[in-house]
Amino acid sequence: MKGIILAAGAGTRLYPASQPISKILLPVYDKPMIYYPLSTLMLAGIRDILIITNEADSDNFQKLLGDGSQFGLNIQYKIQYVQRGIADAFLIAEDFIAGDDVALILGDNIYHGFGFSTFLKQVLENKDGATVFGYRVKDPERFGVVEFDRNGKALSLEEKPSKPKSNYAVTGLYFYDKHVCQYVRTLTPSARGELEITDLNKVYLENGKLNVEILGRGFTWLDTGTQDSMLEAANFVRAMEANKGQLISCLEEIALYKGFITPDELENKLERFKGKSAYYDYVFDLINAEKSMQKVNF
Ligand code: DAU
Repeated sequence: MKGIILAAGAGTRLYPASQPISKILLPVYDKPMIYYPLSTLMLAGIRDILIITNEADSDNFQKLLGDGSQFGLNIQYKIQYVQRGIADAFLIAEDFIAGDDVALILGDNIYHGFGFSTFLKQVLENKDGATVFGYRVKDPERFGVVEFDRNGKALSLEEKPSKPKSNYAVTGLYFYDKHVCQYVRTLTPSARGELEITDLNKVYLENGKLNVEILGRGFTWLDTGTQDSMLEAANFVRAMEANKGQLISCLEEIALYKGFITPDELENKLERFKGKSAYYDYVFDLINAEKSMQKVNF
């Protein structure tokens, strides 16, 4: 399965904070925002990843993440020149997807929960079509909204409805089968001139091929679209990390845990960061623990 991170937004809602640099590169507490969606794809076991950026920020993303080999990944980059909508990502990525299954995650979406990796594995097993995730929110009118029948079967989808039919937002992580590009080509731009992800999901729903999985109480989902939600996310990460003494979305830790990279390889790649920050101190502690045969305690 391939993975795409959509990170091409101009972030105008956060201006002037995101004027000099993409919102997706701004820190959420102790690491750049993109670490969080990237960690989600890694937890889903995805190693071939395309990051779609805007033109101005492409170099900055590449400076930060390079070819991904330090995390045992293969990262490529493409530019979205015009904001044509979230579903446009699949047209930009068509060569990269090359007929494979594909996951898309929005660059400003953060997921956290115990056993997320196992949960994703379970929900994706033997599923065809598309899989999306519903999450209970107080303000559904800000999101794509899914309505369910009594048996929990998805009935309808609406993008930012003024009168939401449920409190369940469709979050910004989507899994699709090999038909996705073909379906995107049948979409027409919405009133705001975008190829809407909700319209794509509606195609799967109408074909009886949309699985909607609920992210229950054990999971937290944050969309960092506003100043307040960015601060909320930073406070959440800080509280979780301080409480457990473990980092959230530490890419090197996930790479070690998943066996994407060996402790020796990681140590060589990170030599220049040794002793530089609390983040890298944490990573070097993990490397040393792994080398002395203590397992990473996930
Ligand atoms: O976060 C989940 C929500 O994301 C879903 O519930 C909605 O159905 C979905 O439409 C989307 O809503 P947003 O209001 O968050 O979409 P927004 O236009 O803010 O775009 C989300 C991110 O994707 C943002 O970081 C900008 C980026 N983006 C967006 C568009 C339209 C691009 O990189 N290119 C684009 O063309």
